Amino acid sequence: MFDWNYWLCLFGERAYQLEIRRPESSDRLTDDERELIADSIGTFQLGEQSEGRTLQSFAEAFARRHGAPALPVITTLFIREEQHHAAQLREFMIANRIPLKGRTWTDSIFRRLRKLAGYEAAVTILVTAEMIGFVYYRALARATASTHLKTLCREMCADESLHLRYETQLLMTLRGERGWLPKRLVERAHRGLLTLSALIVWVDHRRVLGHVGYTPRGFVRDCRAVFRMVMHNRAYRPRARDSAAAS
Ligand SMILES: [Fe+2]
Ligand SMILES: [Fe+2]
Repeated sequence: MFDWNYWLCLFGERAYQLEIRRPESSDRLTDDERELIADSIGTFQLGEQSEGRTLQSFAEAFARRHGAPALPVITTLFIREEQHHAAQLREFMIANRIPLKGRTWTDSIFRRLRKLAGYEAAVTILVTAEMIGFVYYRALARATASTHLKTLCREMCADESLHLRYETQLLMTLRGERGWLPKRLVERAHRGLLTLSALIVWVDHRRVLGHVGYTPRGFVRDCRAVFRMVMHNRAYRPRARDSAAAS
C-alpha cells in the first residue's frame, strides 16, 4: 500500500529548500548557444509552469473516496516543486534575454489531455512527460557551456527522478489489483504513449537534441530505458551504440 506519510514528510522537508538562484553575471550564453536553445528551453519552462488545478482536484476527490487525507497536501507540495523548476528556468531565461512563451501546441495537447482524463490517466500522462523531461534535461546539460544551466539541469534531473519514484508508486496504487491481461494491456498502451510523445518532443526539440547526437531512434530508446527503469525498477544502462549518451 502507498505510504502517504513518507511522501508527505519528504515533500514537506524539501519545500524549505526551494530557493531561486540567479546566474552569475559572468555566466551568460553565447549568441550561438542562445539561438540554439531559446525556443526549446522556452517550451519546457512553460511545461513546468502549471497551477496544477486539474491534478489537485483529482487528488482531492480520490482522497475523499479512499480516506487518504495526506494526498491533497502531497499534491500541493509536488506542484510547488514543478513551479520551482519553472521559476528557476524563468530566471535563467530572463538573465539571458530569452523571451518567455505564452502557449505552445505540445503544451496545450498535454494540458487538454490531462483535463479530459481521469486521475489515473492524468498521472499516466504526467509520468510520461517527466520521463521525457528527464532525458531532455540531461541532453540540455550537454548542449550548453553555461555552468549555471548545467547545474540547473542536473538538479532538475535529480528532482524528476524522485518525482518519478513518487508518481510510479501512486500510479501502481491507482491501477490497483488488475488481472494479468488488463495489466499488460495498460502497460502496452502506456509504452505506446511514451514512444509517440517522445517522437513528438524530438520533432519539436530536434535542434537541441540533434546537437548532442540524438537521432529520433536514440531519443526514444533512452526514454524507453527510463520507462523500464522506473516502471520495473531496473538499473538504467545506456547502450554502447548510443552516441548521445556517450557524449
Ligand atoms: Fe519538473
Ligand atoms: Fe517533476
